[in-house]
Amino acid sequence: MPISDHQLIEAWREVLTLSRLETGQTVTILTSAATHPQTLACALIATQQMGAIVNRLDLPPVNGEKAFSRDSLAYLGTTPLTGNRAAIAALKASDLVLDLMTLLFSPEQHDILKSGTKILLAVEPPEVLARLVPTLEDRTRVLAATKKIGAAREMRVSSPAGTALVCPLGEFGPTAEYGFVDERGRWDHWPSGFALTFPDDRTAHGTIVIDRGDILLPQKRYVTEPIVLTVEGGYATKIEGGVDAALLRDYMDTFGDPEGYAISHIGWGLQPRARWSTLGLYDREATIGMDARAFEGNFLFSLGPNNEAGGSRTTTCHIDIPLRGCTVKLDDETVVRDGRVVA
Ligand SMILES: [Fe+2]
Repeated sequence: MPISDHQLIEAWREVLTLSRLETGQTVTILTSAATHPQTLACALIATQQMGAIVNRLDLPPVNGEKAFSRDSLAYLGTTPLTGNRAAIAALKASDLVLDLMTLLFSPEQHDILKSGTKILLAVEPPEVLARLVPTLEDRTRVLAATKKIGAAREMRVSSPAGTALVCPLGEFGPTAEYGFVDERGRWDHWPSGFALTFPDDRTAHGTIVIDRGDILLPQKRYVTEPIVLTVEGGYATKIEGGVDAALLRDYMDTFGDPEGYAISHIGWGLQPRARWSTLGLYDREATIGMDARAFEGNFLFSLGPNNEAGGSRTTTCHIDIPLRGCTVKLDDETVVRDGRVVA
């Protein structure tokens, strides 16, 4: 159901307060062809109400002809900032960027963050934003998880469906996504609520079984028959199963890039207000599936790049896959048991 402008303005104010927006700071709102008009209108009002100096920067979309879907996270190529010195200068000169277009990770974005600018991505529909307004408790929960990841040497994942994955850790640090940007140079995504890291390059090994009911993104489909991934030397070397496996193989084949098969980020969902079932209620064009990425107790893994963590792998292919019912261990400590976060 729709929400009122009043509700969305209040939600923005809450997120901006958590993000420590102060009177006189400069906010630039990044928009593009797919920006939700209500989200933009309410962001403009909330930022002005809070005394910010507000700009809007509208950039034309890129890569539409290369991506095979309209999902903004499906294709990680160049961004509208690539080679765009004027836009980069405007963003670097801002205290806070509200990304309502999906900038995605790029050298330019890293550069902007390094200048101290905060970036908050917010592209889910208004009612999802309003339902999943982040809280300080979200931050506490996610940071506790990233602290554990940071101290661990290995992540092991198992499931009754047959998943048995080993990921050596230590090369890349942990990342906390809790939905607001309370520090200079921080990037986050509203809504979210999960902790992640990346396996040491070319080391993850074992088997991942994507079981019935698990979710493929950007396909935004619940899998109807198991897909078995064989993982060797950090890459999914076999994708086996029935029609769902064939569809995944065909989609990945369109990128023509062996790096797309690398195990990318790994972690688990920590957001109790996000739900596994929500994706089934939405048209695929209407959401990017953050409920699926963040629901509490999932094991979220992905295939694709690791440059967002400082690795050297860039690829335009990126698949996020939340699994239910897994047990996740960091060294000898169980952090998720049978799909439930261990307190
Ligand atoms: Fe991802």
